[in-house]
Amino acid sequence: MPDPSFDLLIRGGTVYDGTGGQGVRADLGLRDGRIAAIGALDGKAQTVINASGLAVSPGFIDVHAHDDGAVLTTPMDFKLMQGVTTDIVGNCGAGIAPRDPARPPFPGSELVLGEVPDARWESFGEYMDAVGRADLAINVGCFVPHGAVRYKHLGLDRRPPDVGELAAMSEDVAGGMAAGALGLSTGLIYPPGAFAETEEIIELAKAAASAGGIYMSHIRDEADYLLDAVAEAIRIGREAGLPVEISHHKSSGEANYGMTKDSIALIEEERAGGLDVTWDAYPYTAASTLLAVMARRPEGATADVVMVASVAKHREYEGKMINEIAAMLGVDPEAALAQVLADEPMATGIFFVMDEEDVRRVLAHPLCMIGSDGIPSRTGKPHPRLYGTFPRVLGEYCRDQKLFPLEEAIRKMTSLPARRMNLRDRGELREGFAADVVVFDTALIADRATYQEPRQYPAGIEYVIVNGQIAAERGKQKTTRAGRLLRRNERN
Ligand code: CU
Ligand code: ZN
Repeated sequence: MPDPSFDLLIRGGTVYDGTGGQGVRADLGLRDGRIAAIGALDGKAQTVINASGLAVSPGFIDVHAHDDGAVLTTPMDFKLMQGVTTDIVGNCGAGIAPRDPARPPFPGSELVLGEVPDARWESFGEYMDAVGRADLAINVGCFVPHGAVRYKHLGLDRRPPDVGELAAMSEDVAGGMAAGALGLSTGLIYPPGAFAETEEIIELAKAAASAGGIYMSHIRDEADYLLDAVAEAIRIGREAGLPVEISHHKSSGEANYGMTKDSIALIEEERAGGLDVTWDAYPYTAASTLLAVMARRPEGATADVVMVASVAKHREYEGKMINEIAAMLGVDPEAALAQVLADEPMATGIFFVMDEEDVRRVLAHPLCMIGSDGIPSRTGKPHPRLYGTFPRVLGEYCRDQKLFPLEEAIRKMTSLPARRMNLRDRGELREGFAADVVVFDTALIADRATYQEPRQYPAGIEYVIVNGQIAAERGKQKTTRAGRLLRRNERN
């Protein structure tokens, strides 16, 4: 008989294994950072958590994060307190590596990805090694960001790479994959990623494909040309030969409300033809990105639906709509926007451009996983998704709106993303799997972050356990730093 003793015993909860199976009353025994046993356990334990009346689930995986810098320099409380135990970074083609040290940092990186002093990693593998060495609060998986790769070799040139440049870019992608990256990401509305033609991306995606990675994309348009943009992502997947994930799937602008019916139909048809396409989404009707995007391509974002989120030089504008700022300044909205951007080109905004029905349709679909797309700015009023995404799906959409049962909501945050991202032994409560666990109260769970007061931890999360260590207890984060770098397909 093996010694039935555990480091941590979670007793009497309703255990959801993450695969979509219904909850069962069971104890969970953790040992050496792994799940040692599940069932009616009577072994001894150093620490016992009484979970009766509570749900016990695998830790949540945020498939769409922009915390490339923040994971290295912050306690990641805004994610951990939501029950997130794994963060996937390198999204939307944006990143702090690879980089040519002779160039200034990637445009907007300190503001959008979190500040990192001395971020000088020339290769993506060096960045990943730095993540691997850091005292991480949560686990981190990484995508090679196409925009950073392009910026390293071409700067902000609006032209295709020549043969030599393309080969060097491919080598950078391959190097990142060899270091354990999960795939290639693009952000095709942001410079310099937006300057890439489809052929360039196909070529680079091949380097990710041959290593077993996936293609993850903020597609070229989320408004009038949404369907063309989905078709482009599909073409890249087909020609490069790899699975595709559409990031923050949405239809933007009033004229395009309802278009997710067609984008979903397009994806389903493609899947029937054999290409593996999935998507992620966050549970809000407002988007958030650089305010400058609005000046370049409004996509239905008029001055009355755009709020300034973070603008370092003008705190008084934060949380106000562009037309309110225009009234404050006594100018028209266009001039107001231009003035904000002239003072602070990297200001961020919140864009109320989605229809609730589209959000519900996209979230409810079995192919949809959850990604916050949170921007970890330390000042201003970030989009509440940074603090509220996962509890909002569980409280608002699952419990209150009954959009899906609890076991399905949990699957969207755990096993579905873990399998999609090729994260081995994560995303399920199963013997031998890593002990990333959330214990929460299904009746109380709720997001508390709002557009005006976004920096609020959620309610109802009782315990967050990262690699077997209690990282947060009843709304208080511990000093534990038990997170790890997760490399593709490895037992990390
Ligand atoms: Cu993003
Ligand atoms: Zn994006």
